[in-house]
Amino acid sequence: MLAELAVGDSHALSAFPPPLLAPAAVLTDQIEHHVGHLRRDRITDRASPAQRTTDGRVRKCKLRSPVADSGVLAEGKDVTIRRMRDHLDDYRLLLRWRSAPHVAEWWDTAQTELGLEGVIAKYVSRTRSEDPTTACIIQLTGLPIGYIQFYPWEDNEAEMREIGFRLPAGYWGVDIFIGERDHLDRGFGSQAVSLIHRYLVEQRGAAGVALVVARDNVRAQRAYEKAGLVRICEVLDTDTRAGQRIPSYLMACPPTP
Ligand SMILES: CC(C)(COP(=O)(O)OP(=O)(O)OC[C@H]1O[C@@H](n2cnc3c(N)ncnc32)[C@H](O)[C@@H]1OP(=O)(O)O)[C@@H](O)C(=O)NCCC(=O)NCCS
Repeated sequence: MLAELAVGDSHALSAFPPPLLAPAAVLTDQIEHHVGHLRRDRITDRASPAQRTTDGRVRKCKLRSPVADSGVLAEGKDVTIRRMRDHLDDYRLLLRWRSAPHVAEWWDTAQTELGLEGVIAKYVSRTRSEDPTTACIIQLTGLPIGYIQFYPWEDNEAEMREIGFRLPAGYWGVDIFIGERDHLDRGFGSQAVSLIHRYLVEQRGAAGVALVVARDNVRAQRAYEKAGLVRICEVLDTDTRAGQRIPSYLMACPPTP
């Protein structure tokens, strides 16, 4: 019942019985249900042979080697995603963006004031390939507009357990914000998530992506839906707002968008 409600029917979400923390084993089945469901739907997707990969999947963006000198991981119609650099310019961007009110409302909601040194300390390892979390900058025709990071959920077993879900093997987490306020609501966030999803599947062998989003962050949910994610169930994030854990949704998508 839950799985049926969660697919493409946001009105039906109000029918979820609160509180709803799905048992981990059930949740795994639900995601597998969605993955199968969406895969079946997409078999009818029409694409020319040139738009397909050698194994027949539809290619919707250009992907570059993760170790390319430019650090570019993926390029879409408008948006390019490159690795964040261990450079003051990128740290200053992070500092400015994190403190912008439209980001601070939803990102690091415990309101940690890091300052430039704190930003460097927090993000420097994420600029290196050995760190499980990869930090990236979203660019629009060369102009940095936002931040996106990804990591394997398998490295965060304890957090998953505490939030109240478990995922099939190979799922990666994604966190994102558009730092430049005048670039919100223009499709760049959903494009960036789609690009990272495809990059992770094609270059890192991911099974899919999954993320936790606050229940009242309707804009982010809509952006993720446009990127192919569906709501799986209600969870209770370990992130806090005013000292309270944040009621959230787990959203996830299958490997082949
Ligand atoms: C979430 C975020 C990354 C999405 O990126 P974006 O570029 O703004 O999103 P998109 O333009 O791709 O999609 C936003 C959609 O939400 C819709 N939307 C905006 N405000 C909305 C609202 N209050 N209610 C419902 N839908 C809303 C937009 O109209 C758009 O949908 P449409 O294209 O069907 O019209 C970006 O808004 C952001 O950085 N927000 C602040 C930080 C944040 O919330 N990060 C995510 C934490 S999980």
